[in-house]
Amino acid sequence: MIKIILSGCNGRMGQAVAQLVETDPGAKIVCGVDTHNSIANAPADADVIVDFSHPSALPSLLAFGKAHKIPLVLATTGYSVRDTETIRQASNSVPILHSATMSLGINILLNLAGQVAKILSDGFDVEIIEKHHNKKVDAPSGVALTIADTISNALPFPGEYVYDRHSTRKPRGQHEIGISSIRGGTIVGDHSVIFAGNDEILEITHHAAGREIFAAGALHAAKFLAGKPCGLYSMQDAIKLPMPRD
Ligand SMILES: NC(=O)c1ccc[n+]([C@@H]2O[C@H](COP(=O)([O-])OP(=O)(O)OC[C@H]3O[C@@H](n4cnc5c(N)ncnc54)[C@H](O)[C@@H]3O)[C@@H](O)[C@H]2O)c1
Repeated sequence: MIKIILSGCNGRMGQAVAQLVETDPGAKIVCGVDTHNSIANAPADADVIVDFSHPSALPSLLAFGKAHKIPLVLATTGYSVRDTETIRQASNSVPILHSATMSLGINILLNLAGQVAKILSDGFDVEIIEKHHNKKVDAPSGVALTIADTISNALPFPGEYVYDRHSTRKPRGQHEIGISSIRGGTIVGDHSVIFAGNDEILEITHHAAGREIFAAGALHAAKFLAGKPCGLYSMQDAIKLPMPRD
């Protein structure tokens, strides 16, 4: 049984994690932290801190984690470059898993896409399609860009990202990674990677149906991280598949 301190417990993700842990006999939330209280008063014998809050919570989370040697799963997004460096330095003193995408499925897609890119770098065109609800303001999604970066890092040449084809009239270049965005209805988040070759297509698709997938990934990460040595971990470490670069 792992004992969890849940940071951002009153938020949408905090509540999703709390609901999931309720159904899991292998985990228990021993303290919830939000803006109404301070992590400084949380129990020092917890096994892991799970954070879905705000970048402003980072200093107190790291101070508490380091003081009591409690590993941290940092799922909050929006950290500055300086925050990211602070996290890296803190990981010398306490285990930290930081990922902007806690979904197990997305992380497996990233891993598979990287591996496929290494094998199919010659003669296959890469296209990424992402679909989200009609309220999303940014495009492409952060996950689509992470997929493109993972594929680009795995290719023997840097991928040339192409977001918009309407303004040019020329055939597709071999080094291009096309990224297309679709917006509509209440789509939570779909991501597809297409490897299109001569007379054959390989497509890897992930469908997200709700935010519970991020809670499930965070709980998986918490169980993975509890008891690990100091260091900076990613979800790729937690899913235990070989890394694309291996
Ligand atoms: N890594 C992932 O896969 C993933 C998935 C979903 C959301 N997120 C991120 O998790 C964070 C929370 O998302 P959400 O949708 O639950 O947001 P939310 O606004 O619903 O909840 C955030 C909670 O954090 C609390 N909070 C804010 N500042 C705090 C502080 N300094 N100390 C303690 N608590 C504080 C707020 O009061 C609120 O209850 C965001 O950064 C979001 O982008 C990450």
